[in-house]
Amino acid sequence: MDAARPLYVPVILGTSRRGRMSLPVAQLMVSSLSGRSEIETELIDIARMRPRVDDAGEAIKDAAFSARMSRADALVVVSPEYNHGYSGLLKHVLDSCLKEYVHKAVGVVGVSAGPFGGTRGIEALLPVLRELGLVTIFWDVNFSTVQNVFEGSGALRDQAYLPRIDKFLGELVWMARTLRHGREHVVLESGPRQAKAEAKPMICPSCGLEMNHHAEKAVLSTGPADVVEALHACPACGTGASRRGETGTTR
Ligand SMILES: Cc1cc2nc3c(=O)[nH]c(=O)nc-3n(C[C@H](O)[C@H](O)[C@H](O)COP(=O)(O)O)c2cc1C
Repeated sequence: MDAARPLYVPVILGTSRRGRMSLPVAQLMVSSLSGRSEIETELIDIARMRPRVDDAGEAIKDAAFSARMSRADALVVVSPEYNHGYSGLLKHVLDSCLKEYVHKAVGVVGVSAGPFGGTRGIEALLPVLRELGLVTIFWDVNFSTVQNVFEGSGALRDQAYLPRIDKFLGELVWMARTLRHGREHVVLESGPRQAKAEAKPMICPSCGLEMNHHAEKAVLSTGPADVVEALHACPACGTGASRRGETGTTR
């Protein structure tokens, strides 16, 4: 582990609903992460973002949110279950970034009033996270009948959640470290029929070193040709950068 560069793992609170019970859940996840050495975390409350609703996707990108997603090594998404799905506002906010997520880890914490701990919302969210380029872990945390889990003060009433959170975070941190190594050191191999579009290396804007080309992600558009975003990461400082090239091959 690079001690000079702690993992940054923010917690996204996926609802703006008044009286939301996902708030104490998200606060518990932040305090659990804060207790781990070599991790920096913070709460990202989508209620504070007030995203525009007259457009969607990268057109509504919020600069501060984008910067946090670029910096992140992993995400914890606190996902309330709404009618067996995920929160619409959470999806709207997540859709605002793309290249920022690629080859980063994500774990989902489901929250529900009913007995299933948000699992139906989690299952619906997984393909969305995958399409965004995130790598999902195989542990979740499920807060069933969440109205009984916390005291009115927000303190955790049911201590059985703590070892489950430890397991979940252990796996998330492992995946975050592994993917950071991959982004910074493992080169994406181009197939024999692919053009050598990446022959010219990208240079890190922060430290001037040659960056590692670790991924290509299709950016679907309504224009005549799709675009591929080539993603790079600096092996020394972790800075990410990308550049776009055209392709006709992704549809
Ligand atoms: C629009 C809406 C739909 C909901 N649908 C479900 C559901 O399908 N299953 C369930 O267990 N709880 C459902 N709930 C209750 C929430 O899961 C519950 O409020 C929980 O605390 C998480 O959401 P919250 O953070 O907004 O409180 C729903 C709540 C809302 C507002």
